[in-house]
Amino acid sequence: MNQLEESMRRGLGGALERVSVRALVQVDSTNLRLKEEARAGRIRPPFLLMADSQTAGRGRLGRRFVSPPETGLYMSLFISPPPETESGKITILSAVAVCRAIEEATGLRPKIKWVNDLFVKGKKVCGILAERIDQGVIVGIGVNLLTPPGGFPPEAGAAGALDKQVDRGLLAGLIARYLLEGLEKIGDPSILDAYRARMPLVGRQVRYVRDGQEKTALVTGVAQDGGLMIEDENGPSVLRTGEVTLGSEQFAQGWRREEAQNE
Ligand code: BTN
Repeated sequence: MNQLEESMRRGLGGALERVSVRALVQVDSTNLRLKEEARAGRIRPPFLLMADSQTAGRGRLGRRFVSPPETGLYMSLFISPPPETESGKITILSAVAVCRAIEEATGLRPKIKWVNDLFVKGKKVCGILAERIDQGVIVGIGVNLLTPPGGFPPEAGAAGALDKQVDRGLLAGLIARYLLEGLEKIGDPSILDAYRARMPLVGRQVRYVRDGQEKTALVTGVAQDGGLMIEDENGPSVLRTGEVTLGSEQFAQGWRREEAQNE
């Protein structure tokens, strides 16, 4: 077992001996690698893979996830949720698990932007890509720990970093531990409560795209299945996919202020 794998095990804690862990120097994408291995029947859940860098890190909506060495945590966890578990619940659980692990490892208090981007000081520090396959679900998590030399490329948009020295293996293990512990009680309302408490969009105006058209709506809540409850000129509805952006810079500033107060 290499040093990273040892710290992953420490983060997981003794109760999770059954989790297989592997740390690699470089992969195309930890999600892709686990999908291949799971489909070929070479691994069983729960399986945690992390890599020092990715050459083809993938984000939601077909985007690239910039994954340079030394500065980020790139991990995927292969899990087997109970049959019939809605994808939205896994999304919510994953976001809460990553928040908890970052809180414990750094003392920072990340905010969740629906669906599951994590922000610190108004910058996106973490993205989550959960992918369903016949054998289970691969939850891929990318956390920007430090700002890469030369900064983030323009395509990374609002990316920022935790800017804390963190033991990557330990953080990966902690994330996996909270995710797997949550999976044991996936229907429990405490998970949704923990998500809502970290998701400051309720009561704010957001922009979203429906049928190719940009619209503005008021966020009224988070539904049991993880959907975003909104209200616009057509009345109330629930968003289940896609993404939202804050309605104006004024709201973005308000959000940053709220975050600063919580730190
Ligand atoms: C997003 O922001 O849209 C989601 C980004 C998810 C990135 C992680 S990094 C580890 C795992 N492997 C990937 O290729 N993607 C996920």
